[in-house]
Amino acid sequence: MNTLDPSHPLSAGRTTSARLVRAYQGERQEVTPVWFMRQAGRSLPEYRELRVGTRMLDACLDPALASEITLQPVRRHKVDAGIFFSDIVIPLRLAGVEVDIVPGKGPVLGRPVRTADDVKRLTEIDPASLDAEVFAPIVEAVAITIAELDDTPLIGFAGAPFTLAAYLVEGGPSKDHIRARTLMHAEPEAWSELMAWTADVTGAFLRTQVLAGASAAQLFDSWAGALSLADYTEHVAPASTRALSHVRDLTYEVAAGDEAETRNVPIVHFGVGTGELLKAMHEVGADVVGVDYRIPLDEASRRLGHVVPLQGNIDPAMLDAPWSVLRTHVDDVLARGADAPAHVLNLGHGVPPETDPAVLTRLVDYVHAR
Ligand code: CP3
Repeated sequence: MNTLDPSHPLSAGRTTSARLVRAYQGERQEVTPVWFMRQAGRSLPEYRELRVGTRMLDACLDPALASEITLQPVRRHKVDAGIFFSDIVIPLRLAGVEVDIVPGKGPVLGRPVRTADDVKRLTEIDPASLDAEVFAPIVEAVAITIAELDDTPLIGFAGAPFTLAAYLVEGGPSKDHIRARTLMHAEPEAWSELMAWTADVTGAFLRTQVLAGASAAQLFDSWAGALSLADYTEHVAPASTRALSHVRDLTYEVAAGDEAETRNVPIVHFGVGTGELLKAMHEVGADVVGVDYRIPLDEASRRLGHVVPLQGNIDPAMLDAPWSVLRTHVDDVLARGADAPAHVLNLGHGVPPETDPAVLTRLVDYVHAR
């Protein structure tokens, strides 16, 4: 066990009782906490203005800029959490992997990792090289951000090994991640080396954010829905457990009468199209499961034995529908979310760039006033 610094917002009492943190820890809140995946980004005119002339990954590594972008949606929408503005490929970039984000496309690798030899070359980079000095821009950005957020929790995040490997092997975005899934079966040993390496690199990124002041951690396995349950369990889950082991040991103490109660930093695990994988994704070491919009939350809760706090799952397509249609959908999501021990309202995937931000603000007001 590793205790957080006494000045950490969870130890110091600033975010200890925040509705988001308590809901993640399984305590149902009178007011359902709400935030949005990709709340920071292109739906906000103030974001588009700040980003002019700066490449995505450069923006992520500029502490003042990353912090300001993280804070924009919190100020505007009054959401219950900030999510750190960064990207899942940042630890790869910091490890020295040639990667960029191409606007409108996504992460693109200079040199895809297609063969066992490629894996060998990549894994020669020691994950331990990602030390405090390399991560300094992340630590600084988190520090500036939590000072401004005060008692609003910051969520740290990282990409899960499979989603990162999908980019590493394909060399860029792909539809069904065929090359990655072929490597998994054709070269199982190289695959497992690649996954273990990726787990340590992404785990170090997540741990850095939590130690620097994030009050929760979310692992994005966005593309795990491309996998069968058998492949997920055998070839992916061990690496996700390994990634989460970098933060699983982080605890803090809360006074409870004369006693002190030890709590752990809550971990959320999210994927797209992962209805068949929910239980396996919980079992890798998550506290909360994020559900996309394809299955209702009561069904997700049933699949998880009614004991796991859930996050989700407004269909992003509804954001552009008339308010009465969206409101009915939100009421339905909240009613179904009541089946889980606790619920954090979110979208079933990220905010589409064309979304009218006023809709998001209205949605937050509506949920908070219910
Ligand atoms: O507000 C937030 O949610 C925090 C910031 C955040 C970003 N990326 C910023 C970003 C988070 C949590 C991510 C995670 C991420 N990045 C994931 C997992 C979540 C998911 O969407 O499933 C994935 C798969 C990536 C990889 C990635 N980065 C993609 C597919 C893209 C989109 C490319 C495009 O231009 O459409 C990015 C770029 C990216 N990451 C943007 C933002 C705000 C847009 C870039 C821009 O504004 O120029």
